Amino acid sequence: MSEPFYITTPIYYVNARPHLGHAYTTIVADVACRFHSMSKVETFFLTGTDEHGDKVVRAAKKESLSPRKYVDKISGLFRALWPELNIRNSYFIRTTDASHIAIVEQVMQKIYDSGDIYFSEYQGLYCFGCERFYTEREHVDGKCPDHETELELIEESNYFFKMSRYQNWLIDHIKNNPYFITPERYKNEVLSFLKEPLDDLCISRPKKRLKWGITLPFDKNFVIYVWFDALLNYVSALQYPDGDLFKTFWPYVQHIVGKDILKPHGIYWPIMLKAAGIPVYKQLYVHGYWNVDQSKMSKSIGNVVEPLQLINVYGLDTFRYFLMREMVFGLDSSFSEKALIQRINSDLANDLGNLFSRVLTMVHKYFSGVVPQVDTRVEKELRLGLKSDALKTIDKFEKNMKAFAFHKALIAIWELIGRMNKYIDLTTPWVLAKKKSSRKQLEVVIYNLLESLRIMSGLIYPIMPGTAEIMQKHLGMNPQKPFYHLDTLKTWKTILPGTNLPKSITLFPRIDLKNDGGPSSVVRYLVSEPPAIKSEINLETLNKVDLRVATVVRAEAVPRSKKLLKLEVDLGKRRTIVAGISEDYAPEDLVGKQVIIVANLKPAKLMGILSKGMLLAATDEERCTVATLDKKVKPGTPLS
Ligand code: ME8
Repeated sequence: MSEPFYITTPIYYVNARPHLGHAYTTIVADVACRFHSMSKVETFFLTGTDEHGDKVVRAAKKESLSPRKYVDKISGLFRALWPELNIRNSYFIRTTDASHIAIVEQVMQKIYDSGDIYFSEYQGLYCFGCERFYTEREHVDGKCPDHETELELIEESNYFFKMSRYQNWLIDHIKNNPYFITPERYKNEVLSFLKEPLDDLCISRPKKRLKWGITLPFDKNFVIYVWFDALLNYVSALQYPDGDLFKTFWPYVQHIVGKDILKPHGIYWPIMLKAAGIPVYKQLYVHGYWNVDQSKMSKSIGNVVEPLQLINVYGLDTFRYFLMREMVFGLDSSFSEKALIQRINSDLANDLGNLFSRVLTMVHKYFSGVVPQVDTRVEKELRLGLKSDALKTIDKFEKNMKAFAFHKALIAIWELIGRMNKYIDLTTPWVLAKKKSSRKQLEVVIYNLLESLRIMSGLIYPIMPGTAEIMQKHLGMNPQKPFYHLDTLKTWKTILPGTNLPKSITLFPRIDLKNDGGPSSVVRYLVSEPPAIKSEINLETLNKVDLRVATVVRAEAVPRSKKLLKLEVDLGKRRTIVAGISEDYAPEDLVGKQVIIVANLKPAKLMGILSKGMLLAATDEERCTVATLDKKVKPGTPLS
């Protein structure tokens, strides 16, 4: 009996709606899991949501919801999406689950008791976007390399995890287990990071700064750093330490993550496991990033691809196929609707779909839809290597699927499609059908083609499970029996002669590429919808708002505030306004800029400063962008 299989995805942050990247990782896990079920292996597939931390609190505030209400809402979107994508996870974990919290507390206490956690004063540069401190080596001129925002100097006492103690152990472990982190490029990335001394990790946040987290079991004034809490989901979901699931599946765990979270998974996590006395995971698979039309997917560009909108237009299996075929696991890839349509039309409609309907049409035309008998004497000469090619395809497929080389597994299947088309051209069934004397040859040819299609339907099962089922029904297979088991697939002559087959159908309709060059209408449709337009006002009401151009003369951060900047602006006269933009703008970025302000807004006090007017800015889910004019004008000029 083969080893059990345990596969995990990252648990996704609930500060944004699920998008193409989340769908990709989770579909990969589903494909890998379904592939293992082909060998009748016992499987467990875990996904879920990461719900604590500052990011979530800020996202909740933006929607005027309590963190609890907000996490329930977004986690629900993820949970509801997976069945729509035919993803069959065994469990969905949330870091706000009471069972998870209890296990996190237990593991924390264990590491603390073993002496790997200490309390210390700390002063460091902190990024609120990443929710972590940056070391001298990591930041770029005082800015966060990811968010490109100014880091804030924070001084506080915190708990630290002695990662440095395990550095040499981790280097040895990675070197002694060549497949611990794959593909190789990511293993090398981790090893090169480990060439520098590892800093100890700050694993607490004072409650006076952040309450939305799990309380440290040994100090009620702190919550646990969100990554320490999140990584433990992989064991808490199996009811560590005594659960049967833990005993059965943990020794075989394989994690899938995107390259963005290589460091927490390649460094923090194995060290945490080692410190807690839990066996280290078996393998970490790291994939690249999906860009959209060559640009990074981003809410501010408005090119975030939402899987549901896409599958409503193009279909589910076509989408799953595209993701697995187009991306070389480990490398970046670009998503475009044009590329998707091309794959649908050429690989799916032309190659697989045409072959399928071509063979079934022949069964109906020459045998009234009944699977023909096979005369073994005639059979040998007419196989022309098709049986051995079909069986070899299964081997190639298995080898590549095991190595996460999904695109190569699919290429192997498509080579078989090519072989089958050639087989039809060589045996010319339409000529055989003309003479009574070649009837037996025709029977064999058609039967061999049906058997090869049967194998193909099983091989595409992990990637396109819906299509695989339609195919097997049309091939007269018993729908109750798992047709995709590898031992069944490898048994030639599984389809029973005499079976009545349903009429052929179009597996994949072709899609008209109306606009060959640029993006078609669906791309625009994929962009998330802006909020609804407010109710109408008349000109008289509009004229009451006095909008003016103002030049920023001075700008400074408001002490003790994460968001506010105090601006001195010139609009003919000087005045002070306070704006909540410091997460996206450093004071020096604004000096000299011409901005637009509502000049007649009733003054209001913000953090003790009287603000006389309001700065106009566009705020989407990702960042805030200040409104400016495209040419300089005299300060104080009204806008109309
Ligand atoms: O990092 N291309 O959550 P997250 C491919 N909560 N994959 C992408 C992608 C893209 N453009 N964008 C996102 C977190 N992903 C933490 C994880 S685990 C203990 C905690 C996928 O919501 C990819 O798998 O930011 C990436 O690693 C993950 O989403 C990040 O999800």
